[in-house]
Amino acid sequence: MTTTPAAAGSAAQNTDGRSAAGLWPILLDIAQARRAGIEPTLPQHTLTWASDTGWQLQGRWDAEARELFDLFKPLLDFRPTGTAWVIAQLGQSLDGCVATRTGDSSFINGSANLLHLHRLRALCDAVIVGAGTVAADNPRLTTRLVDGPHPTRVLLDPQLRLAGHLETAHVFNDGQAPTLWLCDARWRDDAIAQVGTDRVLAVSDLLQDDGAPHLAHAVQALHSRGLTRLFVEGGGVTVSRFLAQQCLDRLHLAVAPVIIGDGRPGLRFEGPARLADCLRPGCHVYRMGPDHLWDLDLRSAT
Ligand SMILES: NC(=O)c1ccc[n+]([C@@H]2O[C@H](COP(=O)([O-])OP(=O)(O)OC[C@H]3O[C@@H](n4cnc5c(N)ncnc54)[C@H](OP(=O)(O)O)[C@@H]3O)[C@@H](O)[C@H]2O)c1
Repeated sequence: MTTTPAAAGSAAQNTDGRSAAGLWPILLDIAQARRAGIEPTLPQHTLTWASDTGWQLQGRWDAEARELFDLFKPLLDFRPTGTAWVIAQLGQSLDGCVATRTGDSSFINGSANLLHLHRLRALCDAVIVGAGTVAADNPRLTTRLVDGPHPTRVLLDPQLRLAGHLETAHVFNDGQAPTLWLCDARWRDDAIAQVGTDRVLAVSDLLQDDGAPHLAHAVQALHSRGLTRLFVEGGGVTVSRFLAQQCLDRLHLAVAPVIIGDGRPGLRFEGPARLADCLRPGCHVYRMGPDHLWDLDLRSAT
């Protein structure tokens, strides 16, 4: 387990600029160049790319910068192929809740994790949230705490259950970044009538017979729009569905030292009967202020 609060991204800097604060703009440059389909031009002796090892830090960086790099390296190493790369994060209590029973989730985690969340938004092309999160939190899903572009905001809502929230939802009214209402194609016309063609992504066969969205179809539809790095920000139902449908490459679980009791659950899905058959992903743990962030590599899960 790592014990330094490197990924927290505190303002601490050393004098030669080889700190987390100095590294962040370079990581952003890489993400933005990839988004534009070009090779990034980086300051000399900072990072190098090799096809077998991906990005590597060059020279001396402080511990905080090295941890920041390690945390985002899998995301930055991804080269667009035929599909998207998908990461999720959940902030949860020690007893596995993402909110209290009334839906209050502000804030389970400390400020360092909030900063991490905004960095993930800035490095990804799109941030995806479930309809329950929009109804409960009315989030903005912008990068207001960090330098970096806002992602496209995607509301996963196959049956347009957010129809009653459109007038008040920040994501449809603040003009800060593009917003897509992701629904089943059966409701395309309804959705377009309410928010306009540009804001609707209607996907054929999105809604399955069990009431859950077919997430591989959703991911593919976003990929077709050029959105190749996807960040699923919650809530528990949505992240659980992505995990259960094997649509996640990486999961960040930020565990806070708080016990909620009868709150809204984080990860819940029908798991195997035998412990021997349960997922055991490769993992690394980072300190983030009072929280511990579990970085889980789901493609390495046994
Ligand atoms: N700690 C964190 O990291 C974090 C992150 C995000 C959100 N949250 C909290 O998580 C809670 C929401 O998460 P969640 O797991 O319940 O849902 P979610 O994953 O955000 O959204 C999907 C669920 O919401 C339901 N839903 C659809 N429309 C709704 C509406 N208008 N009102 C209420 N629910 C609706 C969906 O039902 P159908 O499938 O039947 O449509 C589905 O069960 C909130 O309390 C939020 O504050 C915590």
